[in-house]
Amino acid sequence: FVPQSLAGKKVLITAGPTFEAIDPVRGITNRSSGKMGYALAHAAACAGANVTLISGPTALPIPFGVGRINVESAQEMLDACLKYSPESDVFIAVAAVADWRTADVATQKIKKQHTDDVPCLSFVQNPDILHTIAQQPNSPYCVGFAAETEHVIEFGQAKRLKKGIPLLIANNGPATFGADDNQVVLLDDSGLHELPKQNKAQLAHVLIAEISNRLTKKL
Ligand code: C5P
Repeated sequence: FVPQSLAGKKVLITAGPTFEAIDPVRGITNRSSGKMGYALAHAAACAGANVTLISGPTALPIPFGVGRINVESAQEMLDACLKYSPESDVFIAVAAVADWRTADVATQKIKKQHTDDVPCLSFVQNPDILHTIAQQPNSPYCVGFAAETEHVIEFGQAKRLKKGIPLLIANNGPATFGADDNQVVLLDDSGLHELPKQNKAQLAHVLIAEISNRLTKKL
């Protein structure tokens, strides 16, 4: 039995990696299976929410009762988030968004040279989706994730303040990518709250309960 703690609420979630094209056959992406974001979407639907999942390319099926919108690039993900966030009560950014994209996408496949010459790509910064949504007037309650390889708590708190969000869920990146288990720390204005290592599906229900509690108390 899962309490309907998000009944009547609209929850917007990003998940998976983004894919930034280099040419029609190549691109750069981030390591993310999408499992955590999809598990949260499922858990939010179980808690009675109306869930929109904006997903980069993953191999995962659509969770039952969730509306999925497929995107590839960070810009497409941002456009979809800007469209749905004004009507959302909660925004949970789980996607591993590529920080950069190539300045120009080649319209034809870049051909290999028969010399040692390699292509020279120049990059531009992608928009920060979470920060952009958090800055919107009447923004939803925003939750971020941070995968760090060191100083998880220190870097996590700094990131939470920089993004201007009330809650950030931090974990050790390499230990969780593609894994079924996850161990996270919740960082908010009151400090840190460590959760035990557990299955991502189970953890998702715990996180949704934490988020709905904070939403009610406006923490
Ligand atoms: O800055 P960093 O990528 O470490 O922040 C991670 C958090 O910000 C995650 O919640 C991620 O989904 C979100 N993010 C975003 N848009 C970006 C980069 C990160 O929404 N361009």
